[in-house]
Amino acid sequence: MWPYPRTLAHRGGGTLAPENTLAALRCGLAYGYRAVEFDVMLASDGVPVVVHDPELGRTVAGRGHINDYTAAQLGAMEAGAWFGPAFAGEGVPTFDAVVNYCKAQRIWMNIEIKPAPGFDVPTGKTVALATRDHFSQEIAAGELLPLLSSFSIAVLEAARQAAPELARGWLVEQIPDGWARTTRKLGVVALHCDHQQLTRAQALAVKEEGLGLFCYTVNTPERASELLAWGVDGFCTDRIDLIGATE
Ligand code: G3P
Ligand code: MG
Repeated sequence: MWPYPRTLAHRGGGTLAPENTLAALRCGLAYGYRAVEFDVMLASDGVPVVVHDPELGRTVAGRGHINDYTAAQLGAMEAGAWFGPAFAGEGVPTFDAVVNYCKAQRIWMNIEIKPAPGFDVPTGKTVALATRDHFSQEIAAGELLPLLSSFSIAVLEAARQAAPELARGWLVEQIPDGWARTTRKLGVVALHCDHQQLTRAQALAVKEEGLGLFCYTVNTPERASELLAWGVDGFCTDRIDLIGATE
C-alpha cells in the first residue's frame, strides 16, 4: 500500500536550505534524509526544472515567469542567495541533475509535477517520460521507483498515458467528496493531503479503500506521531532538524 519511506524532506531540505536546489538535497542528506519531495515544471525549451513558483521573484532572483527562460538560463540564475549568503550561486537545477544526484546518493523521490498554468498535459507527459528513462533498469528489475504526484488531474492522466508503469499519487488540500471514485478513475496508488485539513475518520476511510495516505507538511514530532497513529503512511516535513529521518 505504501512501500515508500515514511519521512521525506520537503523541497529537498525543508526550511534549512534554499528549497528545490542541489544544496537543499545536500542539506537533507546531512540530516540523514534519503527521501525527498520536490517540485518540477517546464522551462521555455520544454526541459523540466526543479522549482516551486511559476514566477521569478521569491526564490529565484529576476522577473517574469519560469517558462520565459530556458533551462540553461534558469540554471545560471540566482536561487540560493535569498536564503543566505552561504548559498549564493545556487541555480535552478534541471530535473535530470536532481535525479542524477538522488540516484547517486540513494535518495528516494516523490516527484511533484507542478505545471505552470496551462501546461498541465505537456508537463505531466515530459516528466513521466523523463522519469521512465532515468529508471528503465529499475523498472525492468522490479525495484522501488519514485512516486509521481500532482494537484492537477490533467497532469496525472497525461503521466499515466505516457508511462503507465510509474505509480502516481493525487495531491489535494482537503480530501473532497467523491474522492474514492476519483482515485479509482485516475488509477492512483495514494492520496496526498494537507494534514491540517485531515480528520481521523477520513484517514481511516482512505486506508480502508486500500490507498496510501501521505500528508504535507508536518513540522512537529507530536503531530507526526498523531498522524501515524491515525494510519497515515508517510509525510514530508520542513523541520528535518526536529523530525528524524526514517529508512
Ligand atoms: O507534495 C506536497 C507539497 O509539496 C505540496 O505543496 O506547495 O509545498 O508544493 P507545495
Ligand atoms: Mg511540493
